[in-house]
Amino acid sequence: MGKAKSRFVCQNCGSSFAKWAGRCENCGEWNTLLEQVVPTEAEAKSALAKGAVSGKKLKAVSINTIEPSDAGSRLCTGFPDLDVVLGGGILLGSVGLLAGQPGIGKSTLLMQICAQVSAAGHKVLYISGEESAGQVKMRAVRLGAASDLLHFASSASGNDIAKTIEEGGYDLVIVDSIQTLSLAEISSAPGTVSQVSNCGNLIIRAAKASGTAVVIVGHVTKEGTLAGPKVLEHLVDVVLNFEGDRYGGFKTVRAVKNRFGSTTEVAIFEMADKGLHEVKNPSEALLSERQNTDGSIIMATIEGTRPLLVEIQALVNPTNFGYPKRTASGFDLNRLNLLIAVLEKRTKLRLQDKDIFINVVGGMRLNDSAADLAICMAIASAAAGRKLNEKIVVFGEVGLGGEIRSVIAPERRIAEAKKLGFDHAIAPATIKDKFVLPVKDLRSALVKYMNNK
Ligand code: TYD
Ligand code: MG
Repeated sequence: MGKAKSRFVCQNCGSSFAKWAGRCENCGEWNTLLEQVVPTEAEAKSALAKGAVSGKKLKAVSINTIEPSDAGSRLCTGFPDLDVVLGGGILLGSVGLLAGQPGIGKSTLLMQICAQVSAAGHKVLYISGEESAGQVKMRAVRLGAASDLLHFASSASGNDIAKTIEEGGYDLVIVDSIQTLSLAEISSAPGTVSQVSNCGNLIIRAAKASGTAVVIVGHVTKEGTLAGPKVLEHLVDVVLNFEGDRYGGFKTVRAVKNRFGSTTEVAIFEMADKGLHEVKNPSEALLSERQNTDGSIIMATIEGTRPLLVEIQALVNPTNFGYPKRTASGFDLNRLNLLIAVLEKRTKLRLQDKDIFINVVGGMRLNDSAADLAICMAIASAAAGRKLNEKIVVFGEVGLGGEIRSVIAPERRIAEAKKLGFDHAIAPATIKDKFVLPVKDLRSALVKYMNNK
């Protein structure tokens, strides 16, 4: 029998190499090669030959005879909007991943959920591999979460945690965070792909076996690149992304994957001294500090299924030397560059020697194509030093020809603008509503409405 050989397999693209290297030659990712033992040819052959013989025939049943596992087995988080994001609360026996940058408030949110769930009479366990019991107690007291039904354990062992989930009889278990866990059987450091995926698998198996709801915390870097949570996303039932500014501003929780609900909803939070609370009227809060200067445009956007008014600010300055600088916070930079190109080609604005800065107020991130028109108008307003009437909101997609295209859910955007006391909306001409000032192309929109010095 030949000696077992080992190969170095890239955890990103799957190509394998005879030698270790810092960077995968195939996909270019750094630090993704891991050593794996390759079975000899004889072993592989015999495993294959045995495979079909040792397998058992599956017992399949008609789908009509299966009891759905849902119905009344959901835990309320205490945040109505978050319950909607989850599709009606946390499902017993499900495994969720809460991913977000360090310091955004994951531990705080989960401690508040623990408080609510234990207050409703459920047995809850909070496991931390990062913080000591004293630290967690301090936070629990501050958030008013301390109760007899809320247990705490400090552990970094995936084996122990899986055993505890399986036999502890808890309804909800929080694991904070997956990056700190390791299995005794695997030699690599905590946070590596193999530790994260194996610990994740073990915990998921324990949760399914015992009907315990488990929420796992995963840190991601600013670019969302850390391997851990990405690997986990395939394994878990629900992936929640916690996004926003670490220091003040709004934070949003949205489901990017949900096996038991939709992924269109968002919950909007704000951090206060007694933990996170849901923002009930985000449009009002976002507009409260508005100053009507040039470069400021109010846009009616849709977050999930909720309409929201946000202020978009543009600053346009002459470039001092070299290439003009373009930055965007809360908006896609490539899209911004594209819109600047459309503005230059389709209107009389000259922007090639201008620095352009875009800011979406309140830490919001716009993923809405209807932001195009508002961004263009904000740039034009800042470049020309002209203001838009302060009682007008804007929404519409801009095509490469400078045409204004229709967007989803115009009636909800209009309703929100009416509710907050706006008089008109500059919007695609396809919408038939007296509230709408219809525009067909970018040039006419600027000529017609950008006139207040
Ligand atoms: P934390 O939940 O520990 O973040 P994460 O687990 O995502 O790393 O805390 C986030 C920040 O929130 C922390 O810097 C302190 C702050 N904070 C408050 O402002 N108010 C509070 O009541 C709590 C508990 C934390
Ligand atoms: Mg934490």
